Amino acid sequence: MVQMTTFAGGRTGSWQVEHIRAVIGPPLEMVKRLAVAKGKDSSNQNAVWRLRGVTSYERYVHRSEREQLVARQPELGRVEATHAALIPIKKSAAWWNLTQDERREIFEEQSHHIATGLQYLPAVARRLYHSRDLGEPFDFLTWFEYAPADASAFEDLVQRLRRTPEWKFVERELDIRLSKRE
Ligand code: HEM
Repeated sequence: MVQMTTFAGGRTGSWQVEHIRAVIGPPLEMVKRLAVAKGKDSSNQNAVWRLRGVTSYERYVHRSEREQLVARQPELGRVEATHAALIPIKKSAAWWNLTQDERREIFEEQSHHIATGLQYLPAVARRLYHSRDLGEPFDFLTWFEYAPADASAFEDLVQRLRRTPEWKFVERELDIRLSKRE
C-alpha cells in the first residue's frame, strides 16, 4: 500500500508558515498555518491549497551511498527540530526525456546531490515525496526539519544545490519555511 501525505495550507495545523517564496515560476498564496496529514486528507475545509505526495523507492542511490545515508540520517519529529522547509519542485520535460542513467549522471556525478547532502546530516532530517504520477502541480515535495542552530547550514545547503547542473532542469520551485507551534 502506498502511503499518501497531504500538506494543507490554511488557518490550522501545527506548523506556522514564516514565508512562501517563489524561487522559480509562479507563487502560491500565503497562509498562516500548514497541516501535515496522512492519507488523501480533505477534512480540512478551510484549506487554501493542498499538495499531495507519496513516499516511494529510491531511483538513484547506490549501495555505498545508501549505507552512508542510513548511518547518518536522523528521524523526523525530533523535539529540537522546530524549523522545517517544504520545497515543492517540478522538473522540465527535458529532464523526464532523459534516460535513468543520464539523470543519475547529472544528479550525482555532475551535481553531487547525495555527497553534498550527506555533509548536512545528521543536522537535517529529510523525506522525499513523489507527486508526478498523481497529476499534481509538482513532481516532488521535499521536506526538511532542523534546529534553529542549524538554520544557516540548511541555507548553505539549499544555495549549493541550486547552483548545480541538476537545477537547470527545475522549472518550478517554491520555498515554504515553517516553525513548530503546537
Ligand atoms: C539534507 C540533505 C539532503 C540529502 C542527504 C539528500 C539526499 C537525496 C537523495 C539520496 C535523493 C535520491 C532519492 C532517490 O534515489 O530516488 C534525493 C532526491 C531529491 N532531493 Fe535531496 N537531499 C538533501 C537535500 C535536498 C534539498 C535541500 C533539496 C531541495 C532544495 C532536495 C531536493 C531533492 C529532489 C527534488 C529530489 C528528487 C530528484 C529526482 O528524483 O529527480 N534535496 N535527495
